[in-house]
Amino acid sequence: MNFLFRILFIFLKIYTIHSLDNGLALTPPMGWLSWERFRCLTNCTAYPNECINEALFKRSADKMVSDGYLKAGYEYIIIDDCWSEKSRDSKNRLQADLERFPNGIKELADYIHSLGLKLGIYGDYGTMTCGGYPGSLDYLELDAQTFAEWGVDYLKLDGCYVDLEGMEEGYANMSRFLNATGRSIMFSCSFPAYKELKANYSMAVEYCNLWRNYGDIDDQWADVRDIATWFADNQKFLRQYAGPGHWNDPDMLIIGNFGLSLEQSKSQMTIWSILAAPLIMSVDLDTIQPEFKAILLNDNAIKINQDPLGIPGELVSKKDNILLWTKPLLGTEEVNGLAVGIVSNRTDGYYYHYNVDLTSLLQTDSYEQFHLTDVFDENSSLNGPLASTEIMVRVPPSGAVLLLISPIEE
Ligand SMILES: *[C@@H]1O[C@H](CO)[C@@H](O)[C@H](O)[C@H]1NC(C)=O
Ligand SMILES: *[C@@H]1O[C@H](CO)[C@@H](O)[C@H](O)[C@H]1NC(C)=O
Ligand SMILES: *[C@@H]1O[C@H](CO)[C@@H](O)[C@H](O)[C@H]1NC(C)=O
Ligand SMILES: *[C@@H]1O[C@H](CO)[C@@H](O)[C@H](O)[C@H]1NC(C)=O
Ligand SMILES: *[C@@H]1O[C@H](CO)[C@@H](O)[C@H](O)[C@H]1NC(C)=O
Ligand SMILES: *[C@@H]1O[C@H](CO)[C@@H](O)[C@H](O)[C@H]1NC(C)=O
Repeated sequence: MNFLFRILFIFLKIYTIHSLDNGLALTPPMGWLSWERFRCLTNCTAYPNECINEALFKRSADKMVSDGYLKAGYEYIIIDDCWSEKSRDSKNRLQADLERFPNGIKELADYIHSLGLKLGIYGDYGTMTCGGYPGSLDYLELDAQTFAEWGVDYLKLDGCYVDLEGMEEGYANMSRFLNATGRSIMFSCSFPAYKELKANYSMAVEYCNLWRNYGDIDDQWADVRDIATWFADNQKFLRQYAGPGHWNDPDMLIIGNFGLSLEQSKSQMTIWSILAAPLIMSVDLDTIQPEFKAILLNDNAIKINQDPLGIPGELVSKKDNILLWTKPLLGTEEVNGLAVGIVSNRTDGYYYHYNVDLTSLLQTDSYEQFHLTDVFDENSSLNGPLASTEIMVRVPPSGAVLLLISPIEE
């Protein structure tokens, strides 16, 4: 199928399904979330710089602005689990932990907004959150109103301690309650992750801006590889549901933490960009090393991820355990652009030399009309006008090469 047909096909599929119309997430959401790095650390005596408290979100927000993350597109700063008191207040409202958030969420939201950022918060559809804090079951409407009053811009609603039967309807109700507040609140749903492919994905599209599909990511390459493999194995099913306003979410970027090497970090950025995945970092922005930060801020990787067509990419071939991922990009009227990710799933010790044949990928052999950017290597000899339909790249084990191929404007 050529690209135009493929795009038409995707649009037709999506428009036979109603999709959430709150004007948000027209490109994959970008931001920062506390969970993977900071978990449920609540002892601020033992962990003064890492516990879940007001200071963590304020210092991370400051860094988002001062270090260029906001400028690059990372906009949401999102509180995950363990932010609340263990009980609701006298009016049954959720309340932030009185010691760790002494000024409350409203004040934090005001601070975040004053920097030009947006604030996200975490809740759970069930009786309790995964960390044992109050859940929203029986209080969905009140919690939606409370979040809106606080000035929250994004809600991640988890699915621990839930009766899986009828879970979709509960999330749909929450989506309506959020809408009824009149505040634009991005809605991140977790039910597909709990029901995997048995979830009603049409309802995810109809009621959510993004949704987790699969298990939590931890800080290791094996998880990036496992998630990527699951998305590849199920891509035919998953891709039809993602597009502007509604996205599959393979979970956080763990780049800059303990578990990924520099080359593996390029692999995660490559795969997430090509999947049109939300780019939600979870890292200590005060201690991240510059070479990891550069990957998160790479403007061409972000451009691929944020492409306005919003077409989730796919694994198109696998040879010698080298995975070739592609994503069509907005181009000219005549021809699309293309992102090509060459990801090594190998474990042997040296660079693997890999020949990429672009003829079938570009669906034209007039390569002269394209410009190539080797996204993570500004000194690459490949950078410049595309010189051939066959290009040779070297990929280190568990690393990646990401190519951006754009039509040259007349
Ligand atoms: C917090 O950590 C301190 C210092 O390690 C320890 O003495 C204290 O018992 C901990 N508090 C709780 C509630 O676990
Ligand atoms: C959703 O809302 C409808 C209408 O108010 C209600 O009948 C239904 O019980 C709710 N379902 C869940 C699972 O919350
Ligand atoms: C609520 O939903 C309506 C209809 O889908 C939409 O037009 C409106 O923008 C939504 N409002 C908010 C605040 O999300
Ligand atoms: C999913 O939900 C939609 C809308 O409520 C419904 O029409 C459809 O039958 C459901 N699909 C499945 C497979 O249950
Ligand atoms: C990557 O390698 C792992 C470990 O050998 C394997 O389980 C997985 O299927 C591979 N992924 C793909 C997409 O081939
Ligand atoms: C490109 O070359 C310059 C000059 O040699 C060097 O400073 C820079 O680090 C190189 N960039 C990369 C990504 O290797």
